Amino acid sequence: MLLEVENVSKSFGGLQAVKNATFEVPEAQVTGLVGPNGAGKTTLFNMISGTIRADAGAIRYRDMEITGLTPQARIGRGIARSFQDVRLLPRLTVLENVVVGVQGQPGERLRNVFTRPRHAVRSEKENLRRAAECLDYVGMPVSVHHELAGGLSYGEQKLVSIARLLATGADLLLLDEPTSGLDEGSLDEFRTVLRRLIAEGRTVLLVEHNMLLVRELCDRAVFLSTGEVLAIDTPGRLMENEELRNVYFGA
Ligand SMILES: Nc1ncnc2c1ncn2[C@@H]1O[C@H](COP(=O)(O)OP(=O)(O)OP(=O)(O)O)[C@@H](O)[C@H]1O
Ligand SMILES: [Mg+2]
Repeated sequence: MLLEVENVSKSFGGLQAVKNATFEVPEAQVTGLVGPNGAGKTTLFNMISGTIRADAGAIRYRDMEITGLTPQARIGRGIARSFQDVRLLPRLTVLENVVVGVQGQPGERLRNVFTRPRHAVRSEKENLRRAAECLDYVGMPVSVHHELAGGLSYGEQKLVSIARLLATGADLLLLDEPTSGLDEGSLDEFRTVLRRLIAEGRTVLLVEHNMLLVRELCDRAVFLSTGEVLAIDTPGRLMENEELRNVYFGA
């Protein structure tokens, strides 16, 4: 199993945001993580990517316990995430933002500068080439590579943030509401990107409120509500379940 989340819990003060959550993310599939606002989806992402510590439970990646690793170490192992609120660096260019992703790999760059300077120069070029490839992958035209990221539309910024994520080379991609704010055209672009990633054998855990998209893209989905996993099933069966529909949309 690529990722195993076992009995993971997290409280903020008196609020238990995630309660004994257990689920698995199989390799080369899209697993959905769905549920109403405040269900604990982003909190789970934060614990898997390492930006917050779980209070209890275990997270394993390729059969190795990663619960105590830093976010950087997890990226090094092949786990990368996108943020619900995008988080590009607005004063850097589009290309530079994606280069940041390429460089987000375990300390390579600094070490190279001191020990293998010529290699470092070459890899700087290589980084730019790779960043440009990732932008191409998400459908961003070369004409915007040197524009400031802050000047792009929200939908374009989301696609750039996905390019930055791909640039890490990670195998497990955690996508937190990647399509919110995308127009129809960008949504098509996103579908194509996701299908290609899966065809290439990458694995995705997708937080998404658009249930039609979840049904179209996900093999299985984990339904979370007030921090608890209520069901794990195909998106079609989850959507047919009246109790879950009431939990999601209100009775
Ligand atoms: N750092 C924090 N401090 C205090 N409470 C938090 C913190 N982060 C999340 N919460 C609370 O934990 C609960 C779960 O939040 P979380 O952001 O994980 O939900 P979500 O499922 O991602 O929701 P949405 O669909 O709206 O993004 C919410 O009640 C939220 O207010
Ligand atoms: Mg969230």
